[in-house]
Amino acid sequence: MLEYTKLGYKPKKTDLVAEYYAEPAKKVSYEYLCEQIAAESSIGTWTTISTMNKNVANKLKPKVFFIDKKKKAIKIAYPQELFEEGNMPQILSSIAGNIFGMGILKNLRLLDVTFPKKLVDSFPGPRYGIAGIRKLLRVKKRPLVGTIVKPKVGLDEKQHAHVAYEAWVGGLDIVKDDENLSSMSFNNFKKRMIETYKARKKAEKITGEVKVYMPNVTAETEEMLRRAKLVDDLGGRYVMIDILTAGWAALQTLRKRTRLVIHAHRAMHAAITRNAKHGISMLVIAKISRLIGVDQLHIGTAHVGKMEGSSREIQLIEEEIEKSYITANEKELILEQDWFDIKPVFAVASGGLSPLSIPDVMDRMGSEIIMQFGGGVHGHPEGTRKGAVAVRQALAATMQEKDLEIFCLANPELSKAIEKWGKKK
Ligand code: 3PG
Ligand code: 3PG
Ligand code: MG
Repeated sequence: MLEYTKLGYKPKKTDLVAEYYAEPAKKVSYEYLCEQIAAESSIGTWTTISTMNKNVANKLKPKVFFIDKKKKAIKIAYPQELFEEGNMPQILSSIAGNIFGMGILKNLRLLDVTFPKKLVDSFPGPRYGIAGIRKLLRVKKRPLVGTIVKPKVGLDEKQHAHVAYEAWVGGLDIVKDDENLSSMSFNNFKKRMIETYKARKKAEKITGEVKVYMPNVTAETEEMLRRAKLVDDLGGRYVMIDILTAGWAALQTLRKRTRLVIHAHRAMHAAITRNAKHGISMLVIAKISRLIGVDQLHIGTAHVGKMEGSSREIQLIEEEIEKSYITANEKELILEQDWFDIKPVFAVASGGLSPLSIPDVMDRMGSEIIMQFGGGVHGHPEGTRKGAVAVRQALAATMQEKDLEIFCLANPELSKAIEKWGKKK
């Protein structure tokens, strides 16, 4: 009654399709492994059970319809009735749950998921997305640029607001908290908001540009919602959440309960995404985030080129390349392409960038990108404000297709950045 493998089965539009890289443990046959992955992720368990009946099996049994033993790739089609609409934790407890720990496998990686329309429609997706954010910031074409206040944690409320002010006045659009800053004994959340929004108002007046602050509201869920409400009450436009440490349920709640733009930080993702043979691909994390409805998402800074086609991750695994970021091609496929009514997500490149990185990042990712610089702004030899100026100069040079080393002759702040961080690679 319970054979799950049905090679050649053509998935229905109502099926959820999951693609895995699957490596059996020693002495386990590939066929048995496939059967067990399908069983444990749906209706079965490690042995036959007297409580199973034909109705359950016929209605809910998934089908392993593709097996490539050489590439260790399998595809499983699950009937959508196995999943609760609008419940991401339940979906993941099925297709990305117990199966990772099964003794009969050595490695298992969830590479990609195709959701049926009914499930896609049960999630809201981003409230603003790329177009909404561009409208809010009144920036039509160029990439958005921002900073993360550094030290990550340690400044008091007033010092924090001052650093933010310097960055905005220097020319950055965005100032954001770091992933481990919340409400500290020396930097209270509410006081930080009051001081930083005061600074934002002043900076907007001086520059005539729209400036945004992304405060990290990550906390226990009810406290997180209180903080998001406070941000809204104080005239904030954004909240930031650490999506993985806070959890998918918390993210769903935040999406439902705030009308602010949601910036998603992916701290801890590498524990899940970094091992190319085990865990969950960044691509899947990005899809889930978009479905639930983050407006912008950290995607890493991709140091390798593009991969084409639907088996892109499988190619990467063959080459044994670690991959915990999104490539330019995937950025388009996963975050930006049409997906029923789900709006596109703004991709954020962040981590180790300096003004000198701008041409490379834009070369790979285009101008539909947010670039964020922590050390690359506050590490400028003349401080935060000049660091921000250097970012805008490097951005202007890149938009005008001018070489940074020539452009910097008339732009001393960029010149200082090049002195410190070396020549453009
Ligand atoms: C669990 O959730 O821990 C498993 O479903 C246990 O089920 P088993 O005893 O059939 O493996
Ligand atoms: C981030 O949260 O993205 C980082 O704080 C970036 O900081 P860095 O530019 O100094 O690496
Ligand atoms: Mg950080």
